[in-house]
Amino acid sequence: MKLSKYFVPTLKEVPNDAVVKSHILMLRAGLIRMVGAGIYSFLPLGYRIVKKISQIIREEMDAIGGQEFHLPALNPREIWEETNRVEAFGDILFHIKNRDYVLAPTHEEIMTFHARNVVKSYKDMPQIWYQIQSKFRNEARPRSGVIRGRQFLMKDAYSFDVDQDAQDVSYKLHDKAYRNIFDRCKLKYFVVGAFSGAMGGSGSEEFMVESDAGEDTVAHCDPATAGCGYAANVQVAVSKVEPKKRDKKSEEIKEIHTPNVHTIDELCEFLKIDETQCAKSRVYIHDGNPVLILMLGNDEVNESKLENILGGTIRPGHPEELLKITGAGAGSIGPVGFKHRIIADNRLKDANNLYSGANKNDYHLGGIDLKRDVKNIEYSDLRTVQSGEQCTVCGKPLSVFNAIELGHIFKLGTKYSDAMGALFLDEKGEKHPIVMGSYGIGVERVLACYIEQNNDDKGIIWDKTLSPFDIHLIALNMKNETVTGTAEKLYTDLQKQGYEVLFDDRDAAAGFKFNDADLLGMPVQIIVGEKKLKNNQVEVKVRRTGERIDVGLEELTKKLKSTFGKMN
Ligand SMILES: Nc1ncnc2c1ncn2[C@@H]1O[C@H](COP(=O)(O)OP(=O)(O)OP(=O)(O)O)[C@@H](O)[C@H]1O
Ligand SMILES: [Mg+2]
Ligand SMILES: [Zn+2]
Repeated sequence: MKLSKYFVPTLKEVPNDAVVKSHILMLRAGLIRMVGAGIYSFLPLGYRIVKKISQIIREEMDAIGGQEFHLPALNPREIWEETNRVEAFGDILFHIKNRDYVLAPTHEEIMTFHARNVVKSYKDMPQIWYQIQSKFRNEARPRSGVIRGRQFLMKDAYSFDVDQDAQDVSYKLHDKAYRNIFDRCKLKYFVVGAFSGAMGGSGSEEFMVESDAGEDTVAHCDPATAGCGYAANVQVAVSKVEPKKRDKKSEEIKEIHTPNVHTIDELCEFLKIDETQCAKSRVYIHDGNPVLILMLGNDEVNESKLENILGGTIRPGHPEELLKITGAGAGSIGPVGFKHRIIADNRLKDANNLYSGANKNDYHLGGIDLKRDVKNIEYSDLRTVQSGEQCTVCGKPLSVFNAIELGHIFKLGTKYSDAMGALFLDEKGEKHPIVMGSYGIGVERVLACYIEQNNDDKGIIWDKTLSPFDIHLIALNMKNETVTGTAEKLYTDLQKQGYEVLFDDRDAAAGFKFNDADLLGMPVQIIVGEKKLKNNQVEVKVRRTGERIDVGLEELTKKLKSTFGKMN
């Protein structure tokens, strides 16, 4: 491809609506342009990469027996009513105004619709059906470019099996295929056990990459630093932390005047004690009822864990409510005498000689024995894991960071086949619902995450696998006939040798061409200039290392072979 004729509108400046590295670089390198909030066009160079990722996905899906479909994005709403998901998706679902259609955010319904009509006997299974196609979700906050769009490309696959054991086989096949896909795309990823949310069913894993642009927070025991690979969303993650030891002797409870003391740190400072001698109280409202949560020292309450325990949503109590319920403000609340439900973190199990609020403004209690002084106390894991705490599996320190989900595999069970009546006959002629799995990968997210992990201050750095072209050929002076003649010949020869070549044949300054080449990031650049040509040489630059060497024209084929060979 010749750059003089190719539509690659690169930008020198950082577009001011972009903050995430991959978003900035995708705009600057002319891979995408925004059409509306969360709606992007892929330009020719960007679409080449999308096709390469899609090809890798296809090969790996076909390798596990997947069969490629192409389903409509426009769906009759009534099919979505069958599973009650018009309601379940709520505002995320796009509706068509003048027709009874929705735009599909995923395709469980349509695939189950097909299975219902054709998968009638145990002999018809297993089946793995997939597609690579646009999905539509009315995301509340589209952001980070194509990482969270309102229209995005997803590879979605669905498996159909006779029972749970057979479904486990399909699930494992996908797990393997996903690892192959992300390995081939050269992504640094890790796998997290997860809830399957609106999809229903149980047993699921998310494939994640670390990124500041991520909206999930995870705890990871990194194998790169000799960890065991444990990974979990902080909503459920656990770590090894010392419980508060019970002292042999419990002191008498005593009231202490603590003016202007509202936080654990202030209390410690005022009484010259350690935070591990204090119990912090928080009051939440659940279903209209107050619940007091007790944490050791400055440990943070994990509201997701709390919601899991209580079932349903919670909210912190307002100051007026706190006063009414406890008789005190937030800084003076405590478990002794609290008349409603109390749940304490496991670290406080049966602890004594604790300091906590007295439910009386400007007063705290000392010598609290949770066993003696607080009846009906329940214990549970309520802490949020912090970076540096020990892994419960192997004891190595955990790291806590933001992450982006690249892919998700889950066992759906019979949620959709029950709802839509997708039944099959077993060997005895008895009817059963089909056991299903569903498996998704965000194609553009793979692209963006690759860029997140492979860039420098000059631009993108492609590996050969996903790179839109293998070689970026630069002719330095288009007015010099020896230069253009050699470059033209190289352009033809290299393509004959099987390389994909982007040829910068524009009549532009050398600096401008070098900057564009680094920004676009092809793995190898070949620079053809007057000076080097005098010695029958061109310059070969490796984008990732920045290494530049002069290579004789007769040596070039060999040199390229070894350079690309080293990259895999
Ligand atoms: N708004 C989006 N824009 C781009 N890709 C997306 C978007 N939502 C989901 N994906 C991709 O599709 C895959 C499968 O979809 P799934 O429904 O499991 O995502 P999700 O759990 O809603 O993701 P997230 O938690 O990031 O919203 C995701 O792993 C992700 O790679
Ligand atoms: Mg989502
Ligand atoms: Zn570990």
